Amino acid sequence: MNKEIVREKLLLQVEEDGADAADQHPCCPHGPTVLFYRQSETPSDGFYACSAHRNPKLCDFRMDKIQWEGNRLKRLHNVRDYPESTMDSDPDPTNHLKALSQDEVHAQYFFDQKALEFFADQCRLLKINQVVCMGAPRLHFHLRRNHKIQSFLLDFDERFGAYLSPQEFCLYNMCNNHFFYNREPFELFLKCNNNDRVLIVTDPPFGCRTELIAHTLRSLVRLHNRINCLPATPLSIFWVYPYYMTNYIKQDMPELQMCDYKLNYTNHSRYTNVGIARRSYGSPVRVFTNVPLELLQLQPAEGYKYCDKCQRYTGIENVHCDRCGNCCSQNGQTYRHCQFCDMCVKPNYVHCTNCRRCSQREGHVCALYQSMQRCWLCGQRGHIETNCGLWLQLKRRDRQKKKDRKDQQYGCIICGHRGHSERKCTLRCRYFKESQFMGQALIVARNKSNQKIRKL
Ligand SMILES: C[S@@+](CC[C@H](N)C(=O)[O-])C[C@H]1O[C@@H](n2cnc3c(N)ncnc32)[C@H](O)[C@@H]1O
Ligand SMILES: [Zn+2]
Ligand SMILES: [Zn+2]
Ligand SMILES: [Zn+2]
Ligand SMILES: [Zn+2]
Ligand SMILES: [Zn+2]
Ligand SMILES: [Zn+2]
Ligand SMILES: [Zn+2]
Repeated sequence: MNKEIVREKLLLQVEEDGADAADQHPCCPHGPTVLFYRQSETPSDGFYACSAHRNPKLCDFRMDKIQWEGNRLKRLHNVRDYPESTMDSDPDPTNHLKALSQDEVHAQYFFDQKALEFFADQCRLLKINQVVCMGAPRLHFHLRRNHKIQSFLLDFDERFGAYLSPQEFCLYNMCNNHFFYNREPFELFLKCNNNDRVLIVTDPPFGCRTELIAHTLRSLVRLHNRINCLPATPLSIFWVYPYYMTNYIKQDMPELQMCDYKLNYTNHSRYTNVGIARRSYGSPVRVFTNVPLELLQLQPAEGYKYCDKCQRYTGIENVHCDRCGNCCSQNGQTYRHCQFCDMCVKPNYVHCTNCRRCSQREGHVCALYQSMQRCWLCGQRGHIETNCGLWLQLKRRDRQKKKDRKDQQYGCIICGHRGHSERKCTLRCRYFKESQFMGQALIVARNKSNQKIRKL
């Protein structure tokens, strides 16, 4: 919830690839900075701050945009020479190096053996032979050693430079796509033959802004296409992040879908399946991917099953809902269908008639809760259907339908019937013109004076 508030108030802008001098951002020791500005202000009132450190005590770079424009003395990009590498290909250093687990910087948590095998299995199924491990060092060592898959590690932890040659490691900041060393070896790695299949796996710290990671992923795909003289061609992506960040990821990369595999870390007390601090419904960490989910395989021996109706693997606890047409559980519990919300909800949620939704019982304050909801009529955030200005306008225009519905809390606001919500009402198209693009909906009121639109 905290993150939501911060996101609403503080917008950000990252430096574009090959930005003109006029658009360049100043650099801190971690590469080009990010321009932050408040929602109520314009970008020119903003300030530049470090893209990688989420605590000013760890990188205190801060410069007002006005000040930067005033002197425009750009610091030099800090391109370093390669470190001396021992190039010892045997020991996986993630087993003995002290993990940099400070959440405001590296948040270094390593996959358990099953998670490593999950990735290797999918690579085999998808016939992937080249992997970019962006912030996934243990996976890099695992793939090269046990599966002979070519892999390149991009990570913010320079200790890996002592174990890996420049042909397979570059010190890198994924929040601004900044290479601290020469990036030519990486470009060489990306150069492909016709039958090469490339996958990017990234496991960023969960405190990273999703806009920055999405921007970087798009830049890497463009770089791959440019190097191989391809038109706009997607690359397979596995983005490891917790299920509760789904909405943020969908907003930035709507083409990604969540796979229900639960990933565990060996050095995290909560995001694991062992130890007393583990969460009762298992780790919340998932994989978001643009690979069709029906192509991925999860092991029954690890608690997964195949759903014939969804045609994909899911958790054994995830019961298919015919009304929703999906196995809806996201968090490892068995969800239940709420007939008033007309969707599947967490089993401990209770329906609030005032808010017309199911939510947690504890700490539920209707006004605050409603101010964070997305309206099921107009699609805007900040109100629910009973306070929808657009709907009021439409109702006023449509004199036939102006009788007030008595059972607004329970029935569909559009037709007044129970058993479905406004989202699934068959009369919806009379009032709203909607278009869908990559999972995002654009909703506008139908123009009553325009007969052509009305007849559609
Ligand atoms: C959650 S850990 C993921 C490790 C992965 N689970 C594994 O076992 O291979 C995050 C990784 O991202 C790296 N990292 C953190 N911030 C980064 C940044 N701004 N740019 C690139 N890498 C970063 C960390 O050093 C760490 O290795
Ligand atoms: Zn910095
Ligand atoms: Zn299903
Ligand atoms: Zn359902
Ligand atoms: Zn409900
Ligand atoms: Zn309420
Ligand atoms: Zn509305
Ligand atoms: Zn209806």
